[in-house]
Amino acid sequence: MVRFPHLLGHLVQVLGLAVALPSLGRNDNATIALPSTIESTNAQAARPGRWELLGGVFFSPLSVESWGPNRLDVFGVGQDLALWHAWWDGSFWGGWESLGGVLHSMPASISWGPNRIDVFAIGTDSSVWHKAFDGSRWLGWQSLGGILLDSLSVASWGSNRLDVFGVGTDSTLWHKWWTGSRWSGWESLGGLLTSNPAAVSWGLNRIDIFALGSDHDLMHRWWDGTRWNGWVSLGGELQYDPAVVSWGPNRLDVFAVGTDHSLWHRYYDGTRWVGWESLNGTLESLPVAVSDQRGRIDVYAVGVDSAIWHRSYSGTWSNWESLGGPVVLPPAAASWGPGRIDVFAIGTDHSLYHNW
Ligand SMILES: *[C@@H]1O[C@H](CO)[C@@H](O)[C@H](O)[C@H]1NC(C)=O
Ligand SMILES: *[C@@H]1O[C@H](CO)[C@@H](O)[C@H](O)[C@H]1NC(C)=O
Repeated sequence: MVRFPHLLGHLVQVLGLAVALPSLGRNDNATIALPSTIESTNAQAARPGRWELLGGVFFSPLSVESWGPNRLDVFGVGQDLALWHAWWDGSFWGGWESLGGVLHSMPASISWGPNRIDVFAIGTDSSVWHKAFDGSRWLGWQSLGGILLDSLSVASWGSNRLDVFGVGTDSTLWHKWWTGSRWSGWESLGGLLTSNPAAVSWGLNRIDIFALGSDHDLMHRWWDGTRWNGWVSLGGELQYDPAVVSWGPNRLDVFAVGTDHSLWHRYYDGTRWVGWESLNGTLESLPVAVSDQRGRIDVYAVGVDSAIWHRSYSGTWSNWESLGGPVVLPPAAASWGPGRIDVFAIGTDHSLYHNW
C-alpha cells in the first residue's frame, strides 16, 4: 500500500500523463525570460494581469513566501534535485540561483520577519534539511535529522520561532522546533495520518495542524501556548492534502478536496467550528488558500481539465473562474499585501509561470 504517493507521481497519474513526460534537457542555467505568456491560457486569464514565463525546469510543486510589501521568494526543486530560488524585489526578478542540496520533496519556506527566510525539505536520505537567508547571505545546509515521508509543513508564531512538521514512517506527526537559540529534538505528536500536514499560526504561541486521518476525515491538533490539544476529528470525506489559512486571531479556514472531487470548506469563528460546506468544482489536486486581508480568502486548485481554477470569499463566494492551463502540478500562491496575490504554476513544459 502506498499511503503517501510522491506528490508528483500522484499528480502525473491523476492528470493522465502517466505514459511519459516530455524529456527535457537539463536547464541548470535557466534564466528568467520576461515578458512572455502561456499563449493557450492568456485569453482565458480572468484575473487582471497575465501569465509571465519565469523559466526553470521543475518536477516538484513550488513554495512561495513574502517577507513584506513588494517582495516574493519562490523555491522549487530542479531536475538536478537541487533547490532553485528566484525573487521579486519590487522592480525585477532575480535568479534563478541554485542553492544546492539533494532533495526528495517539495520545499517548505517561511519568513518570520523582513530579510529572513527559512527553507526546509526532505533530502534523498529521508531526513530534513534546512537552509536560511539571514538578510545578507544564505547559510549552509543543515541536517535536522528525522525520517519523514513526502513533504513538510512549517509555521512560525513569532520572531525567531520555527515549527516544522512532517509525517513519519509510523504515520504519526513529527515535530521539531527552533526556540530562538537552538533546535529541539524530534517529538511525535501521534495520530494515524494519511496525508501531509498543513500548519498555520494565527498569532503568538498558537499553532493549528490539520491532516487527513485513517477514515478520509480531517484531523485537528493545536498548540494553545501551554499544551497540545487533540487530535479531534472534524469529519469529512476527503482526499489529497488539506490547506489552512488564518486571516487573524481566532479564525481558521480549512479546505480539502472531497472524494467527490468538489472543494469542501469548514471554518472556526473563534467559538465553534461551522459545518462543512461544499464549494463545488471538479478538482484533481490539493487546494492552496491565501488570505491577503481580514475577511478575504482566495483558493486555487487544478481542475479535471488541468487548468487552474480560482474561487474567492469576501462576505460571499465568487463563482469559479478558470485561470487557464494546462499545468502539471498544484499551484502556489502568496500575498505581499492587501489586494495583491501572486499565483505560480508549472506548465506542461515544466517551466514556471506567474500571474498576479
Ligand atoms: C549558462 O549560460 C551561459 C551563457 O549563456 C552559457 O555560456 C553556459 O554554457 C550555460 N551553462 C549551462 C550549464 O547551460
Ligand atoms: C454548489 O452547487 C449547488 C448545486 O448546483 C448549489 O445549489 C450551491 O449553491 C453551490 N454552492 C456553492 C457554495 O457555490
